[in-house]
Amino acid sequence: MNQVPPNPLREGTPDDQQTPPCAFVIFGASGDLTRRKLLPALYNLGLSRSLPHAFSVLGVARRPKTDASFGEEMREAVGKFSRRKPLDLNAWVPIEQATGYVQGSFDQAKTYHDLRARLQRSDAERGTAQNRVFYLAVAPSEVLTIVRGLHEVGLLPRPSPEPGAPFSRVVVEKPFGEDLPSAQALNRELYRYLDERQLYRIDHYLGKETVQNLIVLRFGNAIFEALWNRSHISHVEITVAEDIGVEGRGKFYEQVGITRDIVQNHLLQLLTITAMEPPATLDADAVRDEKVKILRSLRPLRGADVLASVVRGQYARGIVRGDAVPGYREEPDVAPASVTDTYVAMRLQIDSWRWAGVPFFLRAGKRLAKRVAEIAVHFRSPPLALFGTAAAAGRSPNSLVLRVQPDEGVALRFDTKIPGAGMAMREVSMDFRYGTAFGGSSPEAYERLLLDAMRGDPTLFTRADEVEAQWGFIDPILSAWREHGAPVALYEAGSMGPAEADQLLARDGFAWRRP
Ligand code: BG6
Repeated sequence: MNQVPPNPLREGTPDDQQTPPCAFVIFGASGDLTRRKLLPALYNLGLSRSLPHAFSVLGVARRPKTDASFGEEMREAVGKFSRRKPLDLNAWVPIEQATGYVQGSFDQAKTYHDLRARLQRSDAERGTAQNRVFYLAVAPSEVLTIVRGLHEVGLLPRPSPEPGAPFSRVVVEKPFGEDLPSAQALNRELYRYLDERQLYRIDHYLGKETVQNLIVLRFGNAIFEALWNRSHISHVEITVAEDIGVEGRGKFYEQVGITRDIVQNHLLQLLTITAMEPPATLDADAVRDEKVKILRSLRPLRGADVLASVVRGQYARGIVRGDAVPGYREEPDVAPASVTDTYVAMRLQIDSWRWAGVPFFLRAGKRLAKRVAEIAVHFRSPPLALFGTAAAAGRSPNSLVLRVQPDEGVALRFDTKIPGAGMAMREVSMDFRYGTAFGGSSPEAYERLLLDAMRGDPTLFTRADEVEAQWGFIDPILSAWREHGAPVALYEAGSMGPAEADQLLARDGFAWRRP
């Protein structure tokens, strides 16, 4: 594929849009997400000149800290976790100078009074214009307490239709609820204090460059969309594989498992963007309407269907990248006979005109051979084996592989003739790689999403009906496992999952792509 010259705008993404003045408040400021993702994302936005000219960052957490000690801690974290290194002090120092810390418990009114006073100071001294983004990097059980606390001190006024009126938005981390009833209840409760337009439910997969590119690839080009249907596509595979284990989060994993942690959100989001119809416009609701339609067209998996179409797996000891690693049941805080899922593979059907009869195979797993996330679209075989069955033996039909991470890119695989006498064929690949085409590293998902929250664009955030539809599909799978005591297929850490998952595809005559 032709390579375009490096794009100097890529480092800042074409940014003709202004970010309005605002204070960015992080609840759960002493947690890992703040250090590893949020502050590094804000710093990179600063480097790309996308932060507002009037800006402040306020951390809120229980641990005692001063503005200065919080700022220093964040400087160290950004130096370590930023995608762009070394730390550029010209970009960082203005952020550190605009950073403050409010110590307090989330269930005490004093915390919110203190925060309000700090925000008023930020408006007066930094010109943040009463615009606020509250980022809740906290446990799901604390979300409502915080929103109520903010409401009670008047920090969450409903949006005003006046142009340029101050805004208050709340960004909520996943998991949003733990099943359909709890997600519905949370939405209902939140609406007592907020409007849907103020709520930004984050799924960081939507902020990944390649995921957004899927929309451009499909709807900004004519060649792919013409083939994007049941007449030309035989099946689709979507993989989110990780080589890490539960990384000290045994207690959390025992409660959620990978189906709630990754399938309900990230994997289903990749599915909806792959399968949705072209939206009428790129307006947030037009895009989300189309995604919701896909979720509603998923053929429900219930009872015995679950046992036939879903494989639940769990890693046993093994070797990952040359290191011996324990099995899931040997991880701290995990029950010795735990049946928690650390791997899931499923066969889904979308009951729509476009997709009838095309199986979608989804898999997600921890402690697999490698870290890779990709969407592989497999096309049908040519109607005639014109080159004889021998030439075609062992050949796989064409595929389009969208690599979400790492080595982001798109590869089109097709057959060519091997030079020389005869008609022997070999599969080759036409590759587009972000790194080579655009140079530099891609912005991290959080950069895009924090910027969108400050700018008020909810397109890449999950709407209430969307998150409920996701749970609506996942809940019956979890119940069937509970009710039928579904088996847990053990797989060796460092493999690509249990043999049962291979059988899921073999029944349709397919095999998982080896990424
Ligand atoms: C998070 C999950 O949402 O996504 C983690 O809670 C998982 O378990 C992570 O490791 C994967 O994100 P990424 O961006 O590294 O693929």
